[in-house]
Amino acid sequence: MPNPRFAIAILAAGKGTRLKSKLPKVLHQIAGRPLLGHVVRAASAIVAPSDIFCIIGHEAALVRQQISPLGTHFVEQAEQRGTGHALMQCEQALAPYEHVLVLSGDVPLIRPETIAAVRDFHLANSAAMTILTAEPPDPFGYGRILRRKANGVFTDNVEAIVEQKQLTPAQENLAEVNSGIYAFNVAELFSRIGRLSTDNPHGEYYLTQIASILQRERLPVLALRTADAGEVLGANTRRELAVLDSLLRERKARELMDSGVTIFKPETVVIDSDVTVGADTIIEPFVQLLGNTTIGEDCFVRSYSVLTNLRVASGVRINQGTIADDSTIGEAAIIGPYSRIRPASEIGPQAHVGNFVETKKVKLGRGAKANHLTYLGDAEIGERTNIGAGTITCNYDGVNKHRTIIGAEAFIGSDTTLVAPVRIGNGAYVGAGSCITKDVPDDSLGLTRPHQLTREGWAVQKRARLQAEKENK
Ligand code: UD1
Ligand code: MG
Repeated sequence: MPNPRFAIAILAAGKGTRLKSKLPKVLHQIAGRPLLGHVVRAASAIVAPSDIFCIIGHEAALVRQQISPLGTHFVEQAEQRGTGHALMQCEQALAPYEHVLVLSGDVPLIRPETIAAVRDFHLANSAAMTILTAEPPDPFGYGRILRRKANGVFTDNVEAIVEQKQLTPAQENLAEVNSGIYAFNVAELFSRIGRLSTDNPHGEYYLTQIASILQRERLPVLALRTADAGEVLGANTRRELAVLDSLLRERKARELMDSGVTIFKPETVVIDSDVTVGADTIIEPFVQLLGNTTIGEDCFVRSYSVLTNLRVASGVRINQGTIADDSTIGEAAIIGPYSRIRPASEIGPQAHVGNFVETKKVKLGRGAKANHLTYLGDAEIGERTNIGAGTITCNYDGVNKHRTIIGAEAFIGSDTTLVAPVRIGNGAYVGAGSCITKDVPDDSLGLTRPHQLTREGWAVQKRARLQAEKENK
């Protein structure tokens, strides 16, 4: 088969009135990515981003800003006068192409395999227009497909697409809906798109009307029905957003399980589309893996942990209730339960960060440990150093942040405050309960604790005195 040039146009200019939102519809996120981001991702598996044209209009600058890193072109539809009007704006941009696949910015679950199937069916049948259709459990709200009958049998030829508000009572039972995904022969489309009318309940140019215009001239307008109606569900309302989000997350969990990840109670985990997880990692119920998080092999992520943009090496154990953002965790480290890893933390291999420990902009060396009740901010901690319970880096003087540098194999006693800027040398000790304001050299002891006073029998005398005072009152 020759290789005719295909473009992909994505309709994304609408406001999304039914969402009742300040944000344009196509920027609403499901599975951690904007709706339009999902569609562009699928389209990019079929054609190069330079052959993709996003039609934008409502809040165009915002949409462009978020989507432009994906490398597509943008065509502006200044006034949103309907899906047909949106495509009219692309006439010049699409002139160099023979065919165009039209996707909807609000139909985000579409898979590249299905887009390819539409393309191949369209070419194989030399269609003027191919419509991807489906039979969802509830067809309400979608345009319905009227197929042509020949000898009493339905054919692949489409007579018309009828929008919900224009259905006759008899047509309301039609189960087959328009997915909003099409392939067109570019020349046939643009030689007739000018004939669209605004004679409909919204007074808009409906792209769907082109089906009857083309078929009346006996040009082939064909329907290709997908078996998986879930894939072409539209996101027009908040309820639909929630449904699509769940479907995408189910799909993601299935993909991960198929690639060797164990997920217990997968219906409870929340994993964004861009997350990767290595084989033999185990994920417990109610875990959230968000943004660009990557997890290595043989890790164990325990319940109620929420990991966002986290890079986790292999063999790491993340215990229950860990909240971690924008940081890296080295091989075989142990985190949590209840650790808070804030941005720019680099937790070294085999390091331990334990209960109620908070880190921020910290480099924790290989095998270093901070196991209990500690705040480490703007600090560098050497290999195998032990940070005692209740240690605090006092990094903020009310105006500026300062750094704490601790060497390798140091020992910081419990309940130490380290008033930055301050340095603790390699192999140094800090006695428990110290408030360290001056550097402690290598292999030295830093101690600010007052000497202990012990008075034997003091408590007996004290109690007797208090009792006597009480009786004399
Ligand atoms: C549309 C179809 C309907 C189909 C459904 C599938 C029409 C008239 N109807 O209805 O047959 O079953 O999709 O999901 O096409 N848009 C623009 N510019 C505009 C208007 C819309 O770019 O002027 C974009 C929107 O941002 C959206 C897409 O086109 O991404 C579809 O618009 P929407 O209003 O959601 O159409 P539906 O009512 O869902
Ligand atoms: Mg829609």
